[in-house]
Amino acid sequence: SKVVLAYSGGLDTSVIVKWLQETYHCEVVTFTADIGQGEEVEPARAKAEALGIKEIFIDDLREEFVRDFVFPMFRANTLYEGEYLLGTSIARPLIAKRLIEIANQTGADAISHGATGKGNDQVRFELGAYALKPGIQVIAPWREWELSSRETLMAYCEQHNIPVDFAGGKKKSPYSMDANLLHISYEGGNLEDPWCEADDDMYRWSVSPEAAPDTPTYVELTYARGDIVAIDGQSMTPAAVLAELNRLGGANGIGRLDIVENRYVGMKSRGVYETPGGTIMLKAHRGIESLTLDREVAHLKDQLMPKYAELIYNGYWWSPERKMLQAAIDESQQVVNGEVRLKLYKGAVTVVGRRSADSLFDEKIATFEDDAGAYHQKDAEGFIKLNALRMRIAAGKGRNLL
Ligand code: ARG
Ligand code: SIN
Repeated sequence: SKVVLAYSGGLDTSVIVKWLQETYHCEVVTFTADIGQGEEVEPARAKAEALGIKEIFIDDLREEFVRDFVFPMFRANTLYEGEYLLGTSIARPLIAKRLIEIANQTGADAISHGATGKGNDQVRFELGAYALKPGIQVIAPWREWELSSRETLMAYCEQHNIPVDFAGGKKKSPYSMDANLLHISYEGGNLEDPWCEADDDMYRWSVSPEAAPDTPTYVELTYARGDIVAIDGQSMTPAAVLAELNRLGGANGIGRLDIVENRYVGMKSRGVYETPGGTIMLKAHRGIESLTLDREVAHLKDQLMPKYAELIYNGYWWSPERKMLQAAIDESQQVVNGEVRLKLYKGAVTVVGRRSADSLFDEKIATFEDDAGAYHQKDAEGFIKLNALRMRIAAGKGRNLL
């Protein structure tokens, strides 16, 4: 039998390779993706070869990740529990999809991953895999093996000649981290105490707002159908857009978030996130929608959004309900075209201008000056009176509305 493993090239997934070979006597196919984590993926090839792997897949998925996952999600202004921009959650369905494609291509009957049995990621990988290939087997070593402590893991490495500096000789971070073009997440270590503030030197992409420049940065984003297609008039691919916004946001101390969130498996967990580009994109998208969307469409989107966010967080990207919601969200974006001008300053993103050929904003109607008959103020009298009718009836019949 054959298993496709989501392989980072790091120590943990290298141990998983050995463990799969030894425990299941199966042939292991490794899959390593560049989704913008900022680490070279090519070194994973030599490491996999050293572990005796014959079929090695290394893909650059950065454009697909932003174009087909991040951008569609941002069309909905998605936030989980009011704050989390879902940086890890949105990458998992892409990994699941590639694992299954590779399983189909190599004739593998199983997939495997390095997520623990306590988290969300196992759910996301596996729901995705089952949705795309119902008969697939899943092997989740962290739920099976006895290597859950650092010491037993190290002993296993020694026994099996896995170099402990497999991660490249860098000092291992004290945090459990996950990075891609949308964010870096930090969990564990001293963050397990929700009262304990993260050290400033933990952050890798952003300066602190205090250390950010004293002069603001202005940036102009061009939208087409709800997606950013240019920065300061320069056309860019989706991945290039996000990389550039990460750079601008990071330099201005934007996008740090420290929360306690509810995991799907039931526990609360403390997470710290850096999402500089995403934080800018959320504000900017709301800015261009404010000009172009019909009120009821905008409000309905906002009602559907928490459901959409929850489904992504819980791992249901590849589901009928996500497809259904996505169709509605995408339909709303046909008119979301135009430009947004933003000011980035010491951790804050402010929309300072917006314009669109699809704007519904009408100066003639909105003006406080004489509107030359575009809006009849007298009409408001009946509008208010009829809306007040049921309260007047109730009050008239003695109901206390106080
Ligand atoms: N708590 C976040 C989420 O569930 C981040 C998970 C980070 N995953 C990781 N393997 N370090 O989306
Ligand atoms: C893990 O448990 O593997 C990481 C955290 C999570 O998936 O929520």
